[in-house]
Amino acid sequence: MIKIAPSILASDFANLGRDIASLSSWQADWVHFDVMDGHFVPNLSFGPPILSSIRPLTKLPIDAHLMVEEPSRMIPWFLDAGADLITIHVEAEKHLHRSLQQIHEAGRKAGVVLNPGSPAYLVREVLPYCDLVLVMSVNPGYGGQKFIPESVAKIAELRQMIDERGLATEIEVDGGINPETAKLCIDAGATVLVAGSAVFQASDPADMIRTLRCGK
Ligand code: DX5
Ligand code: ZN
Repeated sequence: MIKIAPSILASDFANLGRDIASLSSWQADWVHFDVMDGHFVPNLSFGPPILSSIRPLTKLPIDAHLMVEEPSRMIPWFLDAGADLITIHVEAEKHLHRSLQQIHEAGRKAGVVLNPGSPAYLVREVLPYCDLVLVMSVNPGYGGQKFIPESVAKIAELRQMIDERGLATEIEVDGGINPETAKLCIDAGATVLVAGSAVFQASDPADMIRTLRCGK
């Protein structure tokens, strides 16, 4: 029931094709694709050409997390490149509702992301238009950071907002996920966990994915 989305930011870029192919054998659920523009976050990662090249290598859904200014400009690039799901930050987009529609019109799933400093209520009006809400449990920009404990209360608040309205919106959590923090997030109501270093640095990634999913 809990989905695990390994972040390929932590993969071996010199062997990206090999790592993407491994994700299915490790029983991962989604591929988390972190896009950083050097403006919204102080780091650069990868963009549409890399997404297009990994697209044929896996049947798993590709979850594109756009950590960019003015994401609406770039949404068409990631739709064309083959993203199955696109998330945009509430802090970066003035026209959230329109951007969510733009993604849905292409037949893909859409979601919004909250930075650690952004309150849950910022997603209230667009919640019925979101397949997913992504809670950042670290400040976006880098892998390998420490989980911010206040994220747990925000997950619980979103769970209540979603359940009260009878919605099926997924709650995804991203940053500092390990077996301990995974359990806290699942207990608070998360349904999708992103994990970069925990999966790619594990001696047995398949076992780590199983452990994270069980929330042990
Ligand atoms: C951070 C990214 C995360 C990151 C997670 O800006 O959005 O997806 O890769 O990495 P870990 O799991 O190592 O914290
Ligand atoms: Zn991410």
